[in-house]
Amino acid sequence: MTDYKIAPSILSADFARLGEEVDAVLNAGADIVHFDVMDNHYVPDLTFGPIICEALRNYGVEAPIDVHLMVKPIDELIISFAKAGATYISFHPEATEDIDQAIQLIKDHGCKPGLAVNPDTSLNYIKSCLKQIDLIIMMSVNPGLAGQNFIPKVLQKLEQARELITQSGKEILLEIDGGVKVNNIQEIARHGANVFVSGSGIFGTENYQETIDHMRQELLAL
Ligand code: DX5
Ligand code: ZN
Repeated sequence: MTDYKIAPSILSADFARLGEEVDAVLNAGADIVHFDVMDNHYVPDLTFGPIICEALRNYGVEAPIDVHLMVKPIDELIISFAKAGATYISFHPEATEDIDQAIQLIKDHGCKPGLAVNPDTSLNYIKSCLKQIDLIIMMSVNPGLAGQNFIPKVLQKLEQARELITQSGKEILLEIDGGVKVNNIQEIARHGANVFVSGSGIFGTENYQETIDHMRQELLAL
């Protein structure tokens, strides 16, 4: 049976109570903390940096922290996030001149590298790097904002990415990011995703436990 993982994006959490919010989703059964980093340059919005990641670790969060860099340049932040306790660090290949070097930098600092693919970015970008990465973030919205609608054409791409992973023979997590809710998680899983980022789909609901339970039920029904 596929080991599905649920990764709430803290972008939709109440930042004034961030530690409690993260505890709440983890206690409700979430597996991974998705950490969206925006720099007002690669994308227009500005969110949070390594000191917030470190603060969550100091607060006692032990779950994997999945840092999604929507920034340019990336190298300095890779090093800072590794020091701040990140588990996965992913970046958009368009944000660097040297993808291999950035992947190596992430590994050298003890983290697991991932590549994030925008809805309109070709999978060719990641084909040659598959052997070096642990995670693919398939964007199902354009990066930059929480609460957007899932873009259906990404499902086909998700299937292609799953095929590439199978061919590679490597265990690479296939994460879908953007517009994931209880009502579409099952269909997305059918197309090959095994990690589900959900921001507004979890933090925007009244009862995190109920929402995550519903997501699990949808996945169990496959
Ligand atoms: C988009 C971010 C996503 C997003 C998820 O730029 O990478 O992680 O915040 O939020 P929802 O689930 O609300 O689409
Ligand atoms: Zn993200």
